Amino acid sequence: MCGKLTKDTVQVNCDNEAAEKGSYPHFMLKEIFEQPRALRDTINPRINEEEKKICLGEVKITAEQLKNTDRVFMAACGTAYHAGLIGKYTIEKLAGIPVEAILASEFRYNAPMLTKKSLLIVVSQSGETADTLGALRLAKEKGARVLAVTNVVDSSVAHEADDVIFTWAGPEISVASTKAYVTQLAAMYLIAGHFAELLGTVSKKEIADLVIALKNIPDQVAKFLEQKERIEQIEQLAVSLAANENCFYIGRGMDHPVAMEGSLKLKETSYIHAEAYAAGELKHGPMALIREGMPVIGVVTQDHVHEKTISIVEEVVARGAQTIVVTYEGDDRVAKTAGGTIFIPRTAPLVAPILAVIPLQLLAYYTAVHRGCDVDKPRNLVKAVTVE
Ligand code: M6R
Repeated sequence: MCGKLTKDTVQVNCDNEAAEKGSYPHFMLKEIFEQPRALRDTINPRINEEEKKICLGEVKITAEQLKNTDRVFMAACGTAYHAGLIGKYTIEKLAGIPVEAILASEFRYNAPMLTKKSLLIVVSQSGETADTLGALRLAKEKGARVLAVTNVVDSSVAHEADDVIFTWAGPEISVASTKAYVTQLAAMYLIAGHFAELLGTVSKKEIADLVIALKNIPDQVAKFLEQKERIEQIEQLAVSLAANENCFYIGRGMDHPVAMEGSLKLKETSYIHAEAYAAGELKHGPMALIREGMPVIGVVTQDHVHEKTISIVEEVVARGAQTIVVTYEGDDRVAKTAGGTIFIPRTAPLVAPILAVIPLQLLAYYTAVHRGCDVDKPRNLVKAVTVE
């Protein structure tokens, strides 16, 4: 016969959020370090390594339909828009199709010339952004075809688009987008390569080079993130950046959208006023603001404009700017010119935005930490902007 059982009550303090973060102090940092996995999951199922081909089976648009397309639009907001700008550049370069990139918040109000023969590409991590959905619905109303890039399988964007490419970044908790962004970039390269294959606008060698570059990039990102001294260097640079209230980001060609993304990351996480400019534009006004100590962060990965961007870096250095430049390992020319240089592994310039943004994400992260900001939940912001 059993006696009466007496039980003590024990209070268990279970913090789910802390458990999900693992050993990372913030989701943003955890998500930055998840990027090699997110990229592999997004890229690997869509490339045939042996045949050096892109396999985008989920996109049903045919070569005939693509040839008959009168206009291609790209619409997205914030970080997703920056990915769209890289998409515009890449589709134009590889597939020879002009692409009009429009902020989704402007799209409906700018009377876009949509017809039944148009194609709209929308990019949205959440798949629920009101303005992006508005652009999608307007395009559908006009009979246009919609290709969506999204990270959420059960989202409105995914349900309403004709073709959907899922980015397999996994749930992104930090308001500041990092891993979703690099997978959106990967999707842009896959779309551009797929369209180019359909239209026969590039040689087999060019597609093979793109496939190899995409295959290698997750390992290159991993290699960068494994370099402890590199991360410490960025943290040190962040300590001096944290003391400022204003900052410029510059780049040319595809480095310009990367600069825009770096600037958005810094302003939303650290509340530093950051502006991104196409490097050549500084002379048309903003140069007036460059004075002793002004931080200027440069991105130099596009070989065809290498010298031109460096000459602008030289000009801001001559005016006393505190410069930090992201460039390829071994670029002594940049190292000699800039105050601080962050080296990334060499890759094909076309896919360099994926690698170049990683140090900018880390710079924004550590700057925000040093300013004591609420890194994962910046003031006034929400993860998905579901109202206009
Ligand atoms: O969910 P979406 O990709 O549609 O969101 C678009 C923007 O609101 C988003 O990228 C925002 O700019 C990020 N917070 C930036 O880090």
